[in-house]
Amino acid sequence: MSERLKQFAYISHELLDFQEESLRGLLLQSRKKNKDMALTGLLLFDKPVFMQVLEGPAASIDQILADIRADTRHYSMDIIYTNDQLQEREFANWRMGCRILGNRSRDDYARLDSRIRRLLSVGRPNGQLAHQILLEFNAMKGAFLDL
Ligand SMILES: Cc1cc2nc3c(=O)[nH]c(=O)nc-3n(C[C@H](O)[C@H](O)[C@H](O)COP(=O)(O)O)c2cc1C
Repeated sequence: MSERLKQFAYISHELLDFQEESLRGLLLQSRKKNKDMALTGLLLFDKPVFMQVLEGPAASIDQILADIRADTRHYSMDIIYTNDQLQEREFANWRMGCRILGNRSRDDYARLDSRIRRLLSVGRPNGQLAHQILLEFNAMKGAFLDL
């Protein structure tokens, strides 16, 4: 029998003033641990807001959720989407893809960036809609290669 998969997405606010170097450090740390824990996902940064989606075996998801929640580099972590019965991974290619919103100006990215920004500007974003936009982003092969 295959292992049960879970997925969740959250938003949070940076506490550390993240610059490219500190973000790179965070990603290095995350990708190593995500590999060990069989986690995949995407991280979006629209300074000062993070939005992240993570998926993987239930036990790994429960663990990483607690770890990330305890991280003092950010605060106000708010889970906006959960799926406790994920059939198959949706972001399987990413140990942690990263997109810094507004970083590159390709038209199709820019359109999606502005949709995410609109979503984030209303306070607590609609999780279903956020999930939908993340899937659309993911379909663009180069969208998560920022760092
Ligand atoms: C916005 C944000 C996203 C993070 N994403 C991940 C992640 O995907 N995977 C991960 O292992 N750690 C992630 N971290 C780091 C964890 O909070 C925590 O520092 C790390 O899991 C601790 O690992 P270690 O003590 O086992 O080295 C993230 C932290 C922040 C602030």
